[in-house]
Amino acid sequence: MTQTLAEMAVEVLTTADGREKTALAHRHAAAWRASRSGEAPEIPVGQASPPLRPSRPEKPELLDPRDVPRRRPGSLKGQIAILHAVAHIELNAVDLHWDIVARFTDVGFPPGFYDDWVQSADEEAKHFNLVCDCLERLGSHYGALPAHAGMWRAAEDTVDDILGRLAVVPMVLEARGLDVTPGMIEIFRKADLPDVIAALETIYAEEVHHVAYGSKWFHWLCGRDGLDPKPIFHNLVQRYFHASLKPPFNEEKRAEAGLPPDFYWPLAAETPPKG
Ligand SMILES: [Fe+2]
Ligand SMILES: [Fe+2]
Repeated sequence: MTQTLAEMAVEVLTTADGREKTALAHRHAAAWRASRSGEAPEIPVGQASPPLRPSRPEKPELLDPRDVPRRRPGSLKGQIAILHAVAHIELNAVDLHWDIVARFTDVGFPPGFYDDWVQSADEEAKHFNLVCDCLERLGSHYGALPAHAGMWRAAEDTVDDILGRLAVVPMVLEARGLDVTPGMIEIFRKADLPDVIAALETIYAEEVHHVAYGSKWFHWLCGRDGLDPKPIFHNLVQRYFHASLKPPFNEEKRAEAGLPPDFYWPLAAETPPKG
């Protein structure tokens, strides 16, 4: 019997090892693409019960963000710590995208919704491996350092709220990635690590699409249900994201991803600079 897309997603979510999880993510994404292009028999979206929390490897040890040691970006140790944190974010993102595929099958999204998130999950799997390869070339590996424990919180908070999930995960958390990645690339330019720069540039280019998919499906759902997207967005971020948004924002990339300033500036603790 053919596996449904939702079952494939759950299989990824319940695989603990990072390299195995991402290999499976690539395989299932390729199968979905082949089915959608007509090269392979159709894969139904189906239905499944994703776990509340995805399986993860025994290492890294997960700590409260306050207990994760501070990193000095000028040292090799600090650079490894940054890459380790990025690897952790990417692995979490793999699970986040498969989770949205499996969890909201009753909402009635068109197939393009699944195309977008399967594509994103496939890219996150690539990002994880790219960053792990960089770590290994620097003599470290994913799991060598402790990592943030709170990463899955947004997913748990929004298990039964698809609009909340779209607002907080792609449109807040992944958009934040667009704000901070150029600075990170600068750190590795100074450290003269071209393979790390190349990996981060790939991540930076592809993350714009993930934010854009978030905005696209958020607006689609609001439109279908007759909701005004902007106040709904503000309301959901205040409910599920327990802090104000942190400028400076990457206004250009956010615009490219379909996030206008009046979506995020009202949620910042400060007012936008004049001019
Ligand atoms: Fe990513
Ligand atoms: Fe992403």
